Amino acid sequence: MIFPENFVWGAATASYQIEGAVKEDGRGQSIWDTFSHTPGNVAGDDTGDVACDHYHRYRDDVALMRELRLAAYRFSIAWPRVQPDGSGPVNPRGIAFYDRLVDELLAAGITPYVTLYHWDLPQALEERGGWADRDTAHRFADYAEAVHARLADRVTNWATLNEPWVAAYLGYGNGVHAPGRRDAASALRSAHHLLLGHGLAARRLRPGSVMLVVNSSPVLTPAQVNDPAAVPGEADAAAVDRIHALLTRQFLDPAVYGTYPEEVLAAAERNGGTGHIRDGDLDTIRAPIDLIGVNYYNPCVVEAGPGLPADAAWPGSEDVRFATADAPTTAMGWPIVPDGLSRLLVRLSQDYPQVGLMVTENGAAFDDVVENGRVHDADRVAYLDGHLREVWRAVEAGADLRGYLVWSLLDNFEWAEGYRRRFGIVHVDYATQNRTLKDSALWYSDVIARNGL
Ligand code: FCB
Repeated sequence: MIFPENFVWGAATASYQIEGAVKEDGRGQSIWDTFSHTPGNVAGDDTGDVACDHYHRYRDDVALMRELRLAAYRFSIAWPRVQPDGSGPVNPRGIAFYDRLVDELLAAGITPYVTLYHWDLPQALEERGGWADRDTAHRFADYAEAVHARLADRVTNWATLNEPWVAAYLGYGNGVHAPGRRDAASALRSAHHLLLGHGLAARRLRPGSVMLVVNSSPVLTPAQVNDPAAVPGEADAAAVDRIHALLTRQFLDPAVYGTYPEEVLAAAERNGGTGHIRDGDLDTIRAPIDLIGVNYYNPCVVEAGPGLPADAAWPGSEDVRFATADAPTTAMGWPIVPDGLSRLLVRLSQDYPQVGLMVTENGAAFDDVVENGRVHDADRVAYLDGHLREVWRAVEAGADLRGYLVWSLLDNFEWAEGYRRRFGIVHVDYATQNRTLKDSALWYSDVIARNGL
């Protein structure tokens, strides 16, 4: 299985998950600092205060990437390093870190992919309403423009948002993520304002290649998980379509076509109304983009559930049962369904044919152990191997797929799960900050060298 020439191989991380140094060089507070420092929100009450100490160790980490032959590295910028209170002049010491990181990457022959928002909203903006407040979209666009002005001489690949569904619905809907609010109407408003921020920012990131990164999954009935040919009954099919609209079309239809699925408008009607969607917003959101970034971990499994109330993370999901897949799971409890990835990529390339695709995250947490300086993570190798075969199949089926980035380069702060869940291809000993290449890292390096499996 050989991948196309110029297929981009890399790894991804995010600022709050790896940087640490939360009080250094004038960084302001983010909603994740506040949230993780509130007892009970994160497993073990872990915080990102130190994380992988990447802020101080980025040179060594870039050297590791080079050793692994990565062609691309996707990282995110901490908005509160650049604008400590979320608006106003750029903090020169904060942006200087990303200047140094970009230079280090380029010197190592690694192409930077910059994500502008991977969930660390400045706390000062949350205090003014956060993403539920329309003004945050404008603040985000200003911030994006400021970063672009500083880095665009060396960075061409920009992602506006990482996973707006998660930011809106786990942040403001079920409260599992920062800022920990639990209000369906605020979640729906936040989703719209995130999209508005994306559209406003996308127009200010030229010259450059612009991407929107979504967490997407094929939505399947339990029977379809193991039998792609299974045909669901009418009620199950309706549940599948509605959840697909809420998860994926809610973001990609406005961004690509300037329209909202009726299921999203109906959910808003039942939860605070649609008044926050103003005339002209959808034209703003439909800004030209070059790529859709796809983060895939597992399918979303649903069936009809007559009479069930909406799940807190899914306003509009009344009468739907979220089911489990009959499949082995990772340490996160997430089902391992590799062909979900090819099914997803083929569907996205059919639904949004004018936009290229890139797998911007894929990977798995397992309970790794270090033995004599090695980590034999055969389960992760199997996960990655299985998913890469499906990526290849999607390419063969005609999907315009530009690259694959593994999540994650390093073990890191896994949000509400803290440090107990390890997604890295590189093991991090948090007591010593020692890095150990896992077997999966060596395997991946070999895949890159051969451009295939
Ligand atoms: C995604 C996030 C990423 C990481 C993985 C496991 O939803 O974008 O930061 O936590 O899940």
